[in-house]
Amino acid sequence: MEPEGAIPPVGAISGGCQGRGVRGESSVTMGKRVLSGVQPSGKLHLGNYFGAIKQHIELQDRMPDAERFYFIADYHSLTTVQDAPTQRAHTQAVAVDYLALGLDPERSVFFRQSEVPEVLELAWLLGTVTGMGLLERAHSYKDKVARGIKPSVGLFYYPVLMAADILAYKSHFVPVGEDQVQHIEMTQDMAGYFNTTYRTEVFVRPEAVLSATPRVPGTDGEKMSKSYGNTIDIQDEEKQLRKAIMGIKTDSTPVEAPKNPDSCTVFAIYSLFASPAEREAMAARYREGGFGYGEAKKMLVEKVDAYFAPYRHRRAELVADPGYVAGVLREGAEKARAVAAQTLAEARRACGLD
Ligand code: TRP
Repeated sequence: MEPEGAIPPVGAISGGCQGRGVRGESSVTMGKRVLSGVQPSGKLHLGNYFGAIKQHIELQDRMPDAERFYFIADYHSLTTVQDAPTQRAHTQAVAVDYLALGLDPERSVFFRQSEVPEVLELAWLLGTVTGMGLLERAHSYKDKVARGIKPSVGLFYYPVLMAADILAYKSHFVPVGEDQVQHIEMTQDMAGYFNTTYRTEVFVRPEAVLSATPRVPGTDGEKMSKSYGNTIDIQDEEKQLRKAIMGIKTDSTPVEAPKNPDSCTVFAIYSLFASPAEREAMAARYREGGFGYGEAKKMLVEKVDAYFAPYRHRRAELVADPGYVAGVLREGAEKARAVAAQTLAEARRACGLD
């Protein structure tokens, strides 16, 4: 348990949260902090959106009394992107995407990780109490190396920096996709090692919050991922959407035959967008027969296109206003940095670096 008063009061950081639509959940989330990071990786796809981003945005309404900190993990992305123009372009793109998808700077502190260098120092402090064995068990590291990413010291150290991100803001809830759960568990461990070693309560134990749709299938039925080349990108206009969606792998059941919606990728993706009634209606048509995959795909194209049209529109406006985007990130960094500096000072004191 965190000590009383360790958390700055709600409203002090993000401004404007307080008093907004009080809901049933408010007593649970009052004074709590939600934090998540997203690596800038270029174009966002449905997997990024439904796996994490949608939830980040929705938490603005679902936990109105919590504080939200969302950041672009640009220190982390240096483990895979090692070209300055690409790094800059991806960072700008994801900033614009988040804002276009509904991140509200009045309700969420939004910033670039690298504008809060305090997390690097905190990562060092955490690294000194963390056993090699913990990091050696990281699935994400092993998966990345297996995919051909250079096993740099930074890549190995990635979970320590991620723990520092989470602990620097004394975050209670960390909304992430399934693939990040182990990193959150490692963060809990590191917080515990530090608190125990130095008999302190500086760090708050965070909990992962999983999105309702953590695994989005790609066009080949595997997990949707840029590195598998099976994505449907949220920026795509109708023509590109049609191309990606028509390419979704289906089995060879003929049009007339009844089909099983639950084993079909088209249906799985449609379900992400459809209302329960629409979903049931399509499932019934699958089971009846006489409904081909081509038709299901057409319905899916329409859904995806309509869903992201307002985003594409807003995105174009933001691209034309880089000054606004830069201003949001600058203000966010200032607020974030104040919190991280405070935690770092406490951690330094705890280990005798004051
Ligand atoms: N590792 C996360 C991902 O790739 C990004 C990330 C970095 C993050 N720091 C974080 C997520 C802190 C949550 C909290 O998705």
